[in-house]
Amino acid sequence: MSLNLAILGGDGIGPEVVGASLDVLKAAAPGCGLEYKTTDFPFSAAHFLETGHVLDDADVETLRGYDAILLGAVGGLPNDPRLAGGVIEKGILLKLRFELDQYINLRPVQLYPGIETPLAGKTSEHIDMVVVRENTEDLYCGVGGFVRKGTAQEVSSQTMVATRFGVERCVRYAFELAKTRERKHLTLVHKTNVLTFAGDTWHRAFKEVAEEYPDVETAYHHVDACCMYLVTQPECYDTVVVPNMFGDIITDLGAAIAGGMGIASSGNLNPSGAAPGMFEPVHGSAPDIAGQNLANPIATIDSLALMLRETGRIKGSDAAIKCGEQIGAAVKKTTPKFEGKRLDRSGFGTDEVARMVIEAL
Ligand code: NAD
Ligand code: IPM
Ligand code: MN
Repeated sequence: MSLNLAILGGDGIGPEVVGASLDVLKAAAPGCGLEYKTTDFPFSAAHFLETGHVLDDADVETLRGYDAILLGAVGGLPNDPRLAGGVIEKGILLKLRFELDQYINLRPVQLYPGIETPLAGKTSEHIDMVVVRENTEDLYCGVGGFVRKGTAQEVSSQTMVATRFGVERCVRYAFELAKTRERKHLTLVHKTNVLTFAGDTWHRAFKEVAEEYPDVETAYHHVDACCMYLVTQPECYDTVVVPNMFGDIITDLGAAIAGGMGIASSGNLNPSGAAPGMFEPVHGSAPDIAGQNLANPIATIDSLALMLRETGRIKGSDAAIKCGEQIGAAVKKTTPKFEGKRLDRSGFGTDEVARMVIEAL
């Protein structure tokens, strides 16, 4: 079979890191017997500013027809009044995550050999976890609003939504994943001491599903303590399951301890295979370094590798799985060359890093 890939370069450094990743795919595919076709889509802040078009329901249906989506990053300059109200983030990224029911956001946090972490005394042995971020509920549902907006009596609210169905399918995914990992350890991260409704739904779902997985050791941390442990003893984490908003926050921290935003990869998954997954670096469009060949493409190359492994598994394509594994291995062979440098400022150009990964294939 041939993989049909939708490519959304997006804004800022998005097209640069996606371009570098596609160079790697082009080099890796033939050796694995992988055939694929890419189609570019323009959805981005720049496209919106030019045409007034964000992403409509027909676009979603078009994208639904692909095997997978690779996305760079979308978003313009902070404080651009024309992009106020999250028109791009909500209109593209969250719309796709919700409409394609990509209810798992998989975010590995792994310190690669040769990469410097800001944490003193920590090595690759200490930082090797995967975060399972719930991706279609919580504070991201857009439930809430204003009362008496613009007056001295203004009130705004934003509701945290947790459904038993949504929480349980995410928790179950995390247990299944933890079961396949060497340590078989799963930590639930929440704030059940204050968020007593949503937290209780999570707590009970976690406890009840845990009974079906006697081989998986479990733990619970409040999210504030989790931030501390990520810095002081990241080795306590193996698999982590966490609601959407807290997952967003702790995975930026995770990126920082693993060498920077230039390394953090992710996959928005619909594990049922009913809709394609969307794979993207954790970082944004980085307007501060856009157009300068400075962006590190490792995060996107690793997201591409994850895309090939996950899509290959769902579609039954051994060639895609093999190609994803080879690209992942080539990344690990490349990072020692960054010796002593942080991955978000590797000192190598975007295209140079892609060439190094291709050489390592
Ligand atoms: P950002 O991730 O774009 O940048 C944060 C910092 O990390 C910047 O200093 C940037 O230069 C650096 N950085 C990011 N990626 C890098 C890379 N690959 N190599 C080297 N350095 C890198 O976050 P931000 O500044 O908060 O957001 C900028 C825009 O991106 C906003 O419009 C935001 O909404 C959007 N955003 C989009 C996504 C997405 O599309 N998935 C994710 C986060 C933010
Ligand atoms: C991320 C981003 C998005 C999120 C924003 C841009 C909507 O920060 O992918 O981590 O909050 O999920
Ligand atoms: Mn984020």
